[in-house]
Amino acid sequence: MGEIRSVAVIGAGVMGASIAAHAANAGVDVLLVDIVKPGAVERNAIACATIERLKKMEPAPLMGSRAARLITAGNIEDDLVAVGRCDWIVEAVVEKLEVKQALYARLDAVRKEGSVVSSNTSTIPLRELTAGMPEGLARDFCITHFFNPPRYMRLLEMVGGEGEAFAPLRGFLDQGMGKTVVSCKDTPGFIANRIGTYWVQCAMVLALEMGLEVEEADAVMGKAMGFPSTGVFGLIDMVGIDLALHVNASLARLLPEGDVFHAMNRHGAVFTQLVAEGFTGNKGKGGFYRSARGADGKKQKSALDLRAAGAGRLEWRESVRAELPLVRAARDDLKKLLDSTTKYGAYAWGVLGRVLAYAAALVPEIGEDVAAIDAAMRLGYTWRFGPFELMDRLGGAWVAGRLAALGLEVPPVLRAVGDGKFYRENADGEVERFSLAGGYEAIGRAPGILLLEDVKRRGRAVLENKAASVWDIGDGVLCFETHAALRGAMRNMLDGEILGLLEKTLALVKRDYKALVLYNDDLREQPQKVNFSQGANIGLVYLWSNIRMWGKIETSMKEGQRIYQAMRYAPFPVVGAPVGLALGGGAEMLLHCAAVQAYAESYIGLVEAGVGLVPGWGGCVSLLARWSQDKQMPKGPMPAVAKVFEMISTAKVSRSAAEALEMKFLRPADGITMNRDRLLADAKAAALAMVDGYEVPQAPELHLPGPSGRVALNMAVEGFHKRGVASKHDVSVAGALAEVLSGGDTDYLDALSEADVMALERKAFMALVRTKESQARIKSIIDTGKPLRN
Ligand code: NAI
Repeated sequence: MGEIRSVAVIGAGVMGASIAAHAANAGVDVLLVDIVKPGAVERNAIACATIERLKKMEPAPLMGSRAARLITAGNIEDDLVAVGRCDWIVEAVVEKLEVKQALYARLDAVRKEGSVVSSNTSTIPLRELTAGMPEGLARDFCITHFFNPPRYMRLLEMVGGEGEAFAPLRGFLDQGMGKTVVSCKDTPGFIANRIGTYWVQCAMVLALEMGLEVEEADAVMGKAMGFPSTGVFGLIDMVGIDLALHVNASLARLLPEGDVFHAMNRHGAVFTQLVAEGFTGNKGKGGFYRSARGADGKKQKSALDLRAAGAGRLEWRESVRAELPLVRAARDDLKKLLDSTTKYGAYAWGVLGRVLAYAAALVPEIGEDVAAIDAAMRLGYTWRFGPFELMDRLGGAWVAGRLAALGLEVPPVLRAVGDGKFYRENADGEVERFSLAGGYEAIGRAPGILLLEDVKRRGRAVLENKAASVWDIGDGVLCFETHAALRGAMRNMLDGEILGLLEKTLALVKRDYKALVLYNDDLREQPQKVNFSQGANIGLVYLWSNIRMWGKIETSMKEGQRIYQAMRYAPFPVVGAPVGLALGGGAEMLLHCAAVQAYAESYIGLVEAGVGLVPGWGGCVSLLARWSQDKQMPKGPMPAVAKVFEMISTAKVSRSAAEALEMKFLRPADGITMNRDRLLADAKAAALAMVDGYEVPQAPELHLPGPSGRVALNMAVEGFHKRGVASKHDVSVAGALAEVLSGGDTDYLDALSEADVMALERKAFMALVRTKESQARIKSIIDTGKPLRN
């Protein structure tokens, strides 16, 4: 069976462009084609312009410069044969059946044996797309429905595509593009848009009819209930009101008459009027929210007056943040809000009750597998919990008992589950899901998927304290995890407790195990918020500096350096498996690992300069050693020093694992995992692959330029200061960094050890931490999360 090595994307619009980018992120050749504009001289103009746009878009659809080079522009007239040579052809042209069908007819003639074709349609049923299609093409055709933006949204809904011929495509979507592939039945809106659109519609209609303001509705229907923090109106603005309108209209056309969606499809005029006047959301002139600069140059946010909108007038007023204590309390106990007799309580239950009842009533119509439906809502709409998980949290019987208040019947699946739950654990610690067919079925994980939550369910931590725990993930490998939820706003910050447990873990692995993986997967967090580490606990540094306990700070520096060194020179492999942010001390931790297996969405950087400090746990020396060993760098010590100086002094953070590789936070032998659920298994495999014949790394020797190098770096920074790019304290921080990276009073001919450079790190750190400017920077991050430019 083949593999997907080349992809043709037809249609270089919003979705086609970003699907092309993400296929290139997966490392395959991509041909992106669109129509030839009538009379155009440059026949690939549309695709060419799109590729240029991809490089500048935010959030970035491309993970790095290599991916950009993998995309070739073409057009559907001249390049049809080349399209036909690709292993997978994905169609993302306008949502018009006749346009799509005309295209398929042309593809049938050119596509190669063994290729597969799919459509990215969001609303057209598979049976309509394939009606009248030649049998061979219909057999190799399916729907692959990506969510926007495809790089970041983990859900992929697949309709059809069950047969053996689709195995390479499924493998590519999963392992190459990192998607969770949810098989859907051929029903309108598939799973996520079917439930999600109803949710949006209920939230909008009830807000209008119950007299809530936009901000109030968003506060209720947001984070506190486990929905995206934008709330519903903020979300529609982000997605595009025109798109919401379009999906609404298709569902209204396609759903059977008795579907409750129709009854809720009221006040469509608000959407229509907004779109007609160019208020399509954030991409247009604004939507439910607008922001504009006032006379004083400051950004001012305004919100649509829902009452006026309901009466056919579009009027915006100054936006006021809704502070609702009841809603805040719901984060700990959702029922408090749902039980409340206030209008917020009525609104919360009015929307949620309807949505839960709808989701339950759609079993088995849209799918029998409640876990798949939950996954679709979590990954496609970034809900923290899917509807069935939510019903388990509230209690199925409790939900059923309250539906009558909304005049709703209890759906069969909710009746069947009764007092029980949709998910339960069996005697082996496996999760089972409720099935309408009767009883429970084990969910099971595909090969290559290892979740820490499963490990945790099956046994106790091997070692544990408040800040971190250590898990046995089998085959002689331990997993070291820091706890995010305990840390409040400053998540996964490294401190003495974490480092102490890490040291104990190293001793334990040496004695009884083969390898160690560093990985976090705290389920109390929203999945997209899980981070490897945001660095050392600067809260403690701030506290100590306030009471002038400089000795304590210096000791913690030494301890960090010592334990990281112990990790680097451990007689067994330590593999770092970052997800999300790995900043400061977190990045330094990775720099000391024998190997890194990074989730593709890893954002790694030495950001200490932002708090007026320099990396002090071996980050300077480790990164310097890597850049100095790069044979492609020009001769002499300065190029590597200048490169590392630039990275650290500007606190540069990689925007992907691919970029981290370019920055040498990863090395060529390190691995990148595209699918989040596969990271731990991949890291474990990488660790085990190194066990036999493992050699402790050699300590680097550095030849650094000394005072002349320092002067050169300082002159450059002075130049930035004169041009107003660097602040006065930036100059001081950069000066201290220059002292470390140039090797202090060394000479190029002298060899410096890691310990020598680490002593310089400590000296520079201690000098900076005593300054009131650095302390002000630290305080700003602690208080506001924002860096201070002083
Ligand atoms: P779009 O309007 O941004 O882009 C469509 C592109 O297709 C245009 O560049 C157009 O020139 C090109 N095109 C039209 N006919 C063509 C032909 N015969 N051959 C080659 N190119 C042709 O549309 P968008 O939003 O990217 O949607 C594309 C598909 O993806 C639709 O089926 C839509 O339902 C679906 N979809 C859209 C989502 C979104 O958020 N925009 C989300 C998920 C699916």
